[in-house]
Formats: sequence, C-alpha cells, structure tokens
Amino acid sequence: MTAPETDTDTYAGTGSRSETDTEALRDRALACLVDARDRTTLLTSCVDEPDLTAQHSPLMSPLVWDLAHIGNQEEQWLLRAVGGREPMRPEIDTLYDAFEHPRAARPSLPLLPPAEARQYAAEVRGRALDLLASADFDGTRLTEAGFAFGMIAQHEQQHDETMLITHQLRKGPRALSAPDPAPAAPYTGPAEVLVPGGPFTMGTSDEPWALDNERPAHPREVAPFWIDTTPVTNAAYQAFVEDGGYDTERWWAPDGWAHVRQHSIEAPLFWRRDGGQWLRRRFGVTEPVPPDEPVLHVCWYEADAYARWAGRRLPTETEWEKAARFDPATGRSRRYPWGDADPAPEHANLGQRHLGPAPAGSYPAGASPLGVRQLIGDVWEWTASDFLPYPGFAAFPYKEYSEVFFGPEHKVLRGGSFAVGPVACRGTFRNWDYPVRRQIFSGFRTARSEAV
Ligand code: AVJ
Ligand code: FE
Repeated sequence: MTAPETDTDTYAGTGSRSETDTEALRDRALACLVDARDRTTLLTSCVDEPDLTAQHSPLMSPLVWDLAHIGNQEEQWLLRAVGGREPMRPEIDTLYDAFEHPRAARPSLPLLPPAEARQYAAEVRGRALDLLASADFDGTRLTEAGFAFGMIAQHEQQHDETMLITHQLRKGPRALSAPDPAPAAPYTGPAEVLVPGGPFTMGTSDEPWALDNERPAHPREVAPFWIDTTPVTNAAYQAFVEDGGYDTERWWAPDGWAHVRQHSIEAPLFWRRDGGQWLRRRFGVTEPVPPDEPVLHVCWYEADAYARWAGRRLPTETEWEKAARFDPATGRSRRYPWGDADPAPEHANLGQRHLGPAPAGSYPAGASPLGVRQLIGDVWEWTASDFLPYPGFAAFPYKEYSEVFFGPEHKVLRGGSFAVGPVACRGTFRNWDYPVRRQIFSGFRTARSEAV
C-alpha cells in the first residue's frame, strides 16, 4: 500500500456538477462495481479449487491471488482512504502488494485459500457499497465525482482481463463459454483513410474517472497520415508468415530479430501449423485460424515487423488517438470514436460478452467520423510509442499505477480488447507492456505518412 499523494487536499473540482449529475455518477459507479464483480465471480467459480490456486503460467498469478488482490485494493482505497476505516486484516496487505512479490513467486505465498478469499472480497464489497450510498462526491480529489469508486471498478475490470488471460494459458478443456460475435457482412469500405494534419487535443482534464496517465488535456500537432480502417486480420498476417516474414532479418527491429531467433518464434502465440493449414488454440479449443478475425497474441516486435513488410509502420500513440477522437467537423476531441456516449453493445466488443474479437469491419455504429472501425474493443492495438508522461503529468493517487512504468522499456497499447469492461476503456485510455509480451489480447493496425 502506498499512501495517497493528496488525499487530504481540498479540491476545487469544477463546482458546476448538479445534484442530478452526482446521482448519475453514483449510479454508474454502483453499476460498474456490480458488473465487475459478476465477471470476477464467473472467472473464479468456473474452475475447481486446485485450478484456482495453481499457477498456470509463470507470467500469471494464481486466480485466487487476483481475487483477494481485487478485494485488498478495494479495502485500501475505498474503505481506508475514502472511508477512514481501520484495516480489516493488516497482515495480508503485503501478500497482495504486486510490487513486493513478482507473479512467479505468488503461488508459494501463504495466500488466503479460495473460500476465505471469496469471503474477504465479499465483505469488503458489502462495506464499500454502504460507503458509496452516502459518500461525498466533492471535496477531495479522491472523492471528487466518485473518482475512487470509478478507479476501483476499473482496477477490478483490469484484473478480470488478466484472469481471462490466465484462462487462455491454462491447459485443459475450456471452462468458460459465451456466444460468438454476430457474423459481419464482409467489410467492403476503403482499407485506409487520410487523417488530416494540424492540431488536436490529446488526453483529458475533464473525464471524471480518467486515470493519471491520461491527464492533462494538451495540444498536439500531427502531420497528415493514413491509417488502416480495420485491425490487421489473421489472413493478412498469415501472408506475412508464409512469405518468410519470420526468417527475414530486414523486417525486424534488431532486438526483435534476436528475440524471435532465440525463442524460435515463427507465428502468433497459440498458432500451430497442421500440414497445409494453420490452427489456433483458444480457451481449450483448437480450430482453424479464422481469416477475417483481427490477429491476436502478437508482440510489439511482430507487429512492427509485419508493418515494415507491408511497406507501412505502426501508428504513433498520438496518431492513434487523433484517429480515434478527432472530429474534423468541429475540431473537437470526442470521448470515443462514435461520439461522447458511453459504450453500448452496438459500438464495440467489450466486457467479455464474447471470448474473442469480431471479424474485421464489424461495429459500423462504432466507427470514427472518418470511418475507422474497431478502434475500441476487440484487440488492444500496439502503437509505435514508448509509455511516457504527458506534459503536466502528476501521479495520482499513487506512483505505482503509472509513474514507475514510464520509460522506453514499455510500449503503449490503445483501444481495449473484447476482455476489458467498458468502464476501463475510452479514447484516452492508455495501456502498456513490454515489447515481447504476447499472451495479452494484443493486435494492431498500421499507418503510413502522407506522401509529400
Ligand atoms: C495497466 C494493465 C498494465 O495489469 O499491470 C492492475 C493495470 N495496475 N493493477 C496491469 C493494473 C494495478 C496494469 N495495466
Ligand atoms: Fe492490481
């Protein structure tokens, strides 16, 4: 636990939020917390106890660690920091501190067994909902507009995505099920669109639950560029594989080339060649690779190499956000590609409604004004950029959320995947990971500079 940086500061806020708006935020916080917990319950009740405490991959925690960590963060930020309560079980804080114990070491800790972890998380939740019912949504930065409640709902959704990754890595038959996305009419629009150059506003200062790394809003100049209207598909990526992409050094960044050589990587994670065709394993089911789906489980080096092979490049983070938010009619930056409305099922594939991405070109209602599709949901999209603070960044409420990760060792991913809840996804949301990571639900789209 790290003490909040500024929890006792009085915060002026905007001063203009009405009683109705405050109650709408309170209702949304409740709905998002309930939504996240329903998902957590599903992810941790569909496997047996040995499966919950096992480590399915050294990259991941046992599921029972995520469960109690979710409860522990909620206790620390809602019950203690907002509510001023005493710790319920101070001795467990250190077990669930992600910085004290790397994932690989977590199974050997004296973790709460599944029944106790469930009980603890449920008890914290009961008290947190009591607190939410009467909490002041003004006064401190932590409580302004219900920030802490929104932050904790996002935290749980992020771990729900992490737990789904654990399910994907786990051996054995699939434990979860969900309907496939509706089949989409084949996408027949343009393959790329031109995003105009000129200024746009990146980041946000007024989105109530935006996290510290998305702030503040600031102007950026962007040269005109072309960007793919859909994520890169399995079929397109397979053409790269079959063209000897993994054996051709010139497509690869030097570190990427060394990495794929050293680990004999020759296709996306979970792909396997079977005679003349490619198969992939997803949640315990092996099936032919579907050509129209966005490619999934590629690392940054693979995305970067594909783009070079295709005569293109990854978009920068700034370009990605301009493509996702810029409204050429008004010059304004939107919350989402489709406008300012919260995500609805017709806009984007989010929240584990489906256990995979929808075919490229799906969700026309979620397109940007320029016609770019699936920027939100389906697959996280690698960008060319390192994870760095925006000018004027201030860590809040703790340095370990973002600040300690800033630097060239992490690349930014944007847009969210099918596995993340809508509360933890928006046009300004920033995710990051090491460029070698590919167990995450990562894909990409490509860009090119406007020829001059
Ligand atoms: C923003 C997804 C990189 O999972 O490591 C969860 C989110 N931070 N608990 C992560 C997070 C603290 C974070 N990512
Ligand atoms: Fe966490």
